[in-house]
Amino acid sequence: MKYITLNNGLKMPMVGLGTWDLRGEKGKQSIINALKTGYRLIDTAQMYGNEDIVGQAIIESKIPREEIFITTKLNRSCAGYHEAKKGILRSLKNLQTNYIDLLLIHEPYPEALEMYKAMEEAYLLKKVRAIGISNFHNDNYENFISTCNIKPAVNQIESHVYYPQLSFKQKMDNDDIQMESWACFTEGRKDIFKEPILIKIGRKYHKSAAQVALAYLIQNGIIVIPKTSHLERMIENINIFDFNLSDEDMAQIKLLNLNHSLFNWYD
Ligand SMILES: NC(=O)c1ccc[n+]([C@@H]2O[C@H](COP(=O)([O-])OP(=O)(O)OC[C@H]3O[C@@H](n4cnc5c(N)ncnc54)[C@H](OP(=O)(O)O)[C@@H]3O)[C@@H](O)[C@H]2O)c1
Repeated sequence: MKYITLNNGLKMPMVGLGTWDLRGEKGKQSIINALKTGYRLIDTAQMYGNEDIVGQAIIESKIPREEIFITTKLNRSCAGYHEAKKGILRSLKNLQTNYIDLLLIHEPYPEALEMYKAMEEAYLLKKVRAIGISNFHNDNYENFISTCNIKPAVNQIESHVYYPQLSFKQKMDNDDIQMESWACFTEGRKDIFKEPILIKIGRKYHKSAAQVALAYLIQNGIIVIPKTSHLERMIENINIFDFNLSDEDMAQIKLLNLNHSLFNWYD
């Protein structure tokens, strides 16, 4: 596993398991499988309603807690200082842990700064090891980072080969904020697994289109959290550190950029 160092010195795995839509006993089993396959970053959120199975899966995996990096996100029900304080305690309880590795604000809610105050306090009390944001763009990104006290460690946003957001990545690098991708496979909005250029490049390295798509983001310094419930895909998605895309490969994949969101969240 490759790790990246966040702006507060915390090391974060560059590949993790997305858990949107993983639920119940089957979902818990998928998370255990991922941990046994070598995943050390698990991405959840209050909104997904599955923090409890993430916590339970970690316990049942018998992998020491300190080897695992848990990200969760505060949702709209935490919009406010007191609400966020309560929300953090709720997440800790659901996850059956006494600290969260990375806590994000899920979206730029109008009360984001108040929520963030509660997150900063939790950070100083070591209940949270890093704090950050998600889906913050343009003005709400600029306003937020120029006003908050502790600089966010991460901004988790839509990013895949069709909309990698590399200029925003550059901006975040300048601000010392790590970019993390969600929907690295477009959540099914494009048939990325059949994209001819990804397949062609993959053939050179005996890799799948999925692996090339992930390697492209990783080589651009972006953390990825592909979601899958299939064991063979989990293995495939993490097995991406034994090859390097050439400059020419990177340039060809860059041409897939459509320069617009596939979700219209930021337009
Ligand atoms: N911060 C935010 O607002 C936000 C928004 C969206 C998502 N997220 C996070 O980002 C994670 C990833 O995004 P996502 O779940 O929306 O979508 P995604 O990872 O882009 O795509 C998941 C889809 O790809 C399929 N898949 C995975 N690996 C595959 C492979 N190697 N070959 C073929 N198909 C494969 C999965 O199918 P199977 O499961 O059937 O294998 C699933 O249908 C989420 O789970 C969540 O943790 C965050």
